[in-house]
This record gives sequence, structure tokens and C-alpha cells, in this order.
Amino acid sequence: MKILVTGGAGYIGSHTCVRLLEEGYEAVIVDDLSNSSIVVLDRIEQITGKRPGFYPVNICCKKELDEVFEVEKPEAVIHFAGFKAVGESVQKPMEYYSNNISGTLTLTECMKKHGVFSLIFSSSATVYGEPDRMPLGEDCPKGVCTNPYGWTKWMIEQILTDIAAADERWKVTLLRYFNPIGAHESGLIGEDPKGIPNNLLPYIAQVAVGRRECLGVFGNDYDTPDGTCIRDYIHVCDLARGHVMALDHMKDQNGTEIFNLGSGRGYSVLEVFHAFENACGKKLPMEFRPRRAGDIPVSYCDPEKARKILGFSTEFDIEKMCADSWNWQKKNPYGYGENAPCEA
Ligand code: UFG
Repeated sequence: MKILVTGGAGYIGSHTCVRLLEEGYEAVIVDDLSNSSIVVLDRIEQITGKRPGFYPVNICCKKELDEVFEVEKPEAVIHFAGFKAVGESVQKPMEYYSNNISGTLTLTECMKKHGVFSLIFSSSATVYGEPDRMPLGEDCPKGVCTNPYGWTKWMIEQILTDIAAADERWKVTLLRYFNPIGAHESGLIGEDPKGIPNNLLPYIAQVAVGRRECLGVFGNDYDTPDGTCIRDYIHVCDLARGHVMALDHMKDQNGTEIFNLGSGRGYSVLEVFHAFENACGKKLPMEFRPRRAGDIPVSYCDPEKARKILGFSTEFDIEKMCADSWNWQKKNPYGYGENAPCEA
């Protein structure tokens, strides 16, 4: 079965392509490389022995995307492509709404035209806003997002739900990710943010490898046991496996399904920081800084629905997540950049 993967050269997309290929699916990547590297294709081939199809196409370009569907005739789509930097989205809302929402609409139009009605969408726990209960179950109401990036996820979920409600041929799965971290254990693929990392793990990893001086921990006065925020971290390979399980489940699915993908267990910023110190075997510089705007104190999921319906549960703990992040970072200090030939 052939799967078209938008954003398949990115962090989560590349790990999902590996899993798809390992499980006997064919993968065709559509990625404009605006936040990813062509080197990923070689790395995926090194890991799996198979090379995914690849088109350097922006999903907003209808004509080019249409040609990909015409030539490749995929049976389902996993849709990762989109801008994802929270802070940048506040500065550039038009770009975010335009790229993420128009891209999705162009994609669904092409899918419909070519008779492809199975779609998995890369959503986020951010759609819950600032919730009043924990853990977060899929039945928790969607909330008020704190930035345009979050609203694009929120709105795309709504658009896809409406599309599936209007035409029963559609099968839509919305996967709400918690905090994906880690890397493939080969160290050949991993997270390679451009510029200063926004997220915790890549920041710590760049401190550990000597690219940044010191981790700033945003807030130590939250109402949590150690005062720092708590998140539900999930190994990116567990997350990738969740996508393939969701794809398998789609055969028996009607309409829209929503699943949280997380472990159900929260870790504080300090716990993650110390787990990373253990993984890299050295003390790292850290200082407390003021709270970051928009952060909620605690977020973790109720993973029961994914367990019951998909049979999905996470395998890898925080130690393994940090060990694999470090393995990737140390073998590729500059990510996929030219300074970092990788001989994993
Ligand atoms: N943090 C620091 N220092 C840093 C970076 C992060 O202390 O340099 C803290 C944050 O304040 C937060 C925690 O680490 O308390 C996790 O922050 P991340 O930025 O790694 O993750 P978020 O939970 O803020 O964001 C993630 C995804 C978003 C998604 C959001 C909500 O990256 O895409 O979850 O689901 F929108």
C-alpha cells in the first residue's frame, strides 16, 4: 500500500517513513525542504534499505501536487507539512494561516479529485488550550489557543472533521501529539531545528554538544513539585509507530477519529534536564529565567483510547528518549549540516 507523506523529510515525518517502510508500506514524500534536508532520504535508505519516493513540492502548489497524485496514485495520506514554531507564528500570523490552512485545503482538494479519502493529520495537544482537568482525554473540549500556530491545528481539525461529516467516503484521523523527543536509535535521523531551538530537548542537546552556553529554564515558581512545568514526553519512534497503527485501524473506520499520542506520564523540566545529564554523562550549565508567555503548568494525556482502539502504548522511557537524543546530537552536532558527516 502506497502512502503519500507530506512533510516526510521533517523530524516526525522521517521517523514515520522509516516505520512505514519497515512495515511493508511504500512511502512517497512531498516536502519543500523549507525546514528539512534532502540528506534525510539517504539516511532513511541507510536505515531501511529502501528509498522513499520524493517530490520537492510545496503542498500549496496545486498543479504540482496534483501531478504527484496523478503519477503516484497513493491510497492514503499522512499530513505533517506545516510551519510549527510557536513564537514565529505570533510574529507572522498571515504566513502561518496561509501556509498551514491553504496547504491543507489544497491537499484535500487533490485527494478528492484523485479518489483518495484516507487522511491522518498531525495535530497537537495545543488544541486543548489551558484545560481545567488532567489527564487530557480526547473528549476534553478544545480550548483557547495562545498563538496562531495552535489555532492552525485547531482550525484544520475542524475543517477535516467537517469534510468527513459531509461525505462518508472520508476517513480522517486526528493525532494529537504531546511532546515528541528522542531520535532513531541508529543516530542517523533526528530533530534538526534551524536557528535557536524553541523546544526543550533540542536546546539541552545543543548545550551538551557545545553549541549553546547554558539552558534557560523558563519558570521555577509553578504549582508543581519542583516548580517547573510538566509535560508528557513521547519517543518519536513510539509516535511513528502510532501513525502506522492508526493507518492499520483506518480500514475499519468511518468518519473522524481522534487519538492522543503520549505516554500518560508527566516529567518536569528539571527531571528531563537531569535525565539528559545522565545520558550524556556530564553536568550541564543551567539557569532559571522568567516564565515563558503562553506556557501552561501541566500537560499530560489520558492514553487509554489509543490503547483500547489502536492497541498503542509507548515502549520507551525518558532515559531512552534522552539517550537517543544525545546519540543523534553527538553523531550530528550540526544536524544534517555539512559540518557533520555521520558514520553511525
Ligand atoms: N523550556 C525551557 N527552556 C527552553 C525550552 C523549553 O525551560 O529553552 C520549557 C518550557 O517552558 C516548557 C517545557 O520546557 O515548560 C517544554 O517546552 P517545549 O517548548 O519543548 O514544548 P511545549 O510543551 O511548549 O510545546 C510542545 C510543542 C508544540 C505544541 C505544544 C502544546 O512543541 O508544538 O507542545 O502541545 F504546540
